[in-house]
Amino acid sequence: ESPKSMVAKNEVEQEEIDDGVIKVAIFFGTQTGTAEGFAKALGEEAKARYEKARIKIIDLDDYAAEDEEYEAKLKKENVAFFFLATYGDGEPTDNAARFYKWFVEGKENRKENCLKNLQYGVFGLGNRQYEHFNKIAKVVDEGLAKEGAKQIVPLGLGDDDQCIEDDFTSWRDSLWPELDNLLRDGDDATVATPYTAAIPEYRVVFHDQTEGSITSNGSFKANGHTVYDAQHPCSADVAVKKELHTPASDRSCTHLEFDISGTGLTYETGDHVGVYCENLVEIVEEAEKLLDVSLNTYLSIHTDNEDGSPLSGGSLLPPFPPCTLRTALARYADLLGSPKKSALLALAAHASDSSEAEKLRYLASPAGKDEYAQWVVSNQRSLLEVMAEFPSAKPPLGVFFAAVAPRLQPRFYSISSSPRTSPSRIHVTCALVHEKTPTGRIHKGICSTWIKNAVPLEQSHDCSRAPIFVRQSNFRLPSDTNVPVIMIGPGTGLAPFRGFLQERLALKEEGSELGPSVLFFGCRNSQMDYIYQDELNNFVQTGALSELVIALSREGSTKQYVQHKMMEKAADIWNMISEGAYLYVCGDAKGMARDVHRTLHTIAQEQGSMGSTEAESLVKNLQTTGRYLRDVW
Ligand code: 2AM
Repeated sequence: ESPKSMVAKNEVEQEEIDDGVIKVAIFFGTQTGTAEGFAKALGEEAKARYEKARIKIIDLDDYAAEDEEYEAKLKKENVAFFFLATYGDGEPTDNAARFYKWFVEGKENRKENCLKNLQYGVFGLGNRQYEHFNKIAKVVDEGLAKEGAKQIVPLGLGDDDQCIEDDFTSWRDSLWPELDNLLRDGDDATVATPYTAAIPEYRVVFHDQTEGSITSNGSFKANGHTVYDAQHPCSADVAVKKELHTPASDRSCTHLEFDISGTGLTYETGDHVGVYCENLVEIVEEAEKLLDVSLNTYLSIHTDNEDGSPLSGGSLLPPFPPCTLRTALARYADLLGSPKKSALLALAAHASDSSEAEKLRYLASPAGKDEYAQWVVSNQRSLLEVMAEFPSAKPPLGVFFAAVAPRLQPRFYSISSSPRTSPSRIHVTCALVHEKTPTGRIHKGICSTWIKNAVPLEQSHDCSRAPIFVRQSNFRLPSDTNVPVIMIGPGTGLAPFRGFLQERLALKEEGSELGPSVLFFGCRNSQMDYIYQDELNNFVQTGALSELVIALSREGSTKQYVQHKMMEKAADIWNMISEGAYLYVCGDAKGMARDVHRTLHTIAQEQGSMGSTEAESLVKNLQTTGRYLRDVW
């Protein structure tokens, strides 16, 4: 049973309770499960502290079937908490997108002070390295106040660049006095009993089966869904794989094509594809040694007791299908990320050596904050590395999958093809992540390594396949083909523009007239990592692209980046913008996109002879009118 349906069931039961109790709704907008985990942790503790409150933990998408319902239902809540993550270029998570759109766009239609009976708190999940740090949480926090709701705790700004668990803990601790006021009986003078969160644990059943006798080995649901999404991915074969760098390059970038023919899965130019990949065999075998359980063990995990009643304590993600431990570790466990503090506590609870348990607890405690930041986070120690340092910590599998190893998340890639030219293929352009960490470990990116090692159908009938799904984006060419287009995409930031150019070429061949277009592409050296060079030249020859500008960062005597080339072409860029051009940026958010953004300001100032504030509002205006779009990570 999925958590969604469990929430829905609880809701029905709860609605039947007589009124008079205070209703607390805890909403989450989650992508990788962190916001959901925080929402559940707050909910569990609040339930333990306040007997009289009616506490619900709610996926924002499930809250209202129709947009209008959001308002009607929110008005009936007494207290609401929102856990909201901000992604990409200041976007909400998929499951909060509809709520957020309603919240922002529906503002005008709502009556003044319509939420005056609501008391609320917002905790944001973001990363300070990015430009739109916690934008979604900030907008919702401010917006609720404007609608008359009363803020009972200051906005929490979770920063994933540091320790977001600590941010959550201190925000939650600042909340209790306020909630005590609201939710505890006035004459109840006792201090709330200290609460220790239960370590979540699945019930595990071991089955007497061997891999050979199993017909369905935890396979993802068969294809044929009308809608594919993260919960219902589509199994797709790898049809083609090619290395895009030349042998002279010391890095690697893979071109991969997923075959989606006959699956019903469709996409649009500019969309993203989510890919569920698997850990390398060597990583899975390392985990086997640390857990001390054979990889051939066949198991199923459950969120209920044998009699069907729900397990008490701790929040659990929906279980994965029955499979061998080998499959479970390969597909469902993130073994290479740094362990969270809650994972260290779960390990401590199962360490037979008391000094190891003590050290683990210290690392997870406020006193061990600096050591955790240094020894775990800065050193990029993986979960497996940490477990190897504490060999006596052998959590049972039910704890390992529930509380130690996070669920392996799908990775998203900007699709590098257009359905006009490749309706039955989804192309991916993926740079290999292969880095030495401070401890000397070679970190091999899970999905990029899987992609690099994939066996394509053109090589073997027993090709690689992966569960995939498409995520819509707002990265779209202007509907009027005459509108000028400026594209900026160094490295794999080129991916969506390859799709754009395929689309423009197809449009041209169909007889459409095309407005001018320019692409700024950057790489290190034209002999090494100039990906899709022939194709790009062909786009110029055929007129799909008017101008191709290349910035080479490690070839000549000076380092050339795309933004330097933009400055050289400032007058052209300014003219195109004046003629209504759309501007697109794709690639690294922390460095490149930020620098390009600044360059745009400079161009507006210099070419438009305007002051800094005027230039800023011009760029902002391009953004709000949808003429400056970014697909950044
Ligand atoms: P570098 O690796 O030589 O620093 C694709 O990765 C290209 O983007 C490379 O040529 C890379 O150069 C360049 N690049 C790195 N940081 C950048 C930044 N902040 N702005 C623009 N380009 C950048």
